[in-house]
Amino acid sequence: MNITQLKKDILVITQQPLHVDEILQQICDYLKSAVSYYDWVGFYFTNGDKKELILKQFAGKPTEHTIIPFGKGICGQVALSNQNFVVQDVTEQDNYISCGFDVKSEIVVPIFKKGVNIGQIDIDSHHIAPFVTEDEELLEYVCEQVAKLNI
Ligand code: SME
Repeated sequence: MNITQLKKDILVITQQPLHVDEILQQICDYLKSAVSYYDWVGFYFTNGDKKELILKQFAGKPTEHTIIPFGKGICGQVALSNQNFVVQDVTEQDNYISCGFDVKSEIVVPIFKKGVNIGQIDIDSHHIAPFVTEDEELLEYVCEQVAKLNI
């Protein structure tokens, strides 16, 4: 992946004078098309004081998992751990919520606003073990830029 170009493009997207929802949608669409092994890209955000995540924008197949309790699945675990979760092979995870038989791996990176975990970016891939450290670097950058938006 050309991480320099990807970061530049993300910055351009996030600096547009658009509503945050539109920016988040553009990020999903852009990442899904720009990285060959990103097959589903979505943003989950915490739901007020409730201990659950709600799916906002996404690109890829619609999922029934639009609300995820803290602690459940990869996403729910990241809501509690505040750490990146890279799953190179989803069959190795017991606490995993399947979004389809074609999903083989997943990466989730938390979004921090003023030090608080407010949500996450979630990527599903149809490939086994596609993720490298640059994916985490790119997605941390995306999350930093998203945190600067009016969310
Ligand atoms: N697989 C996730 C659920 C969300 S979908 O990937 C869209 C999980 O285990 O939390």
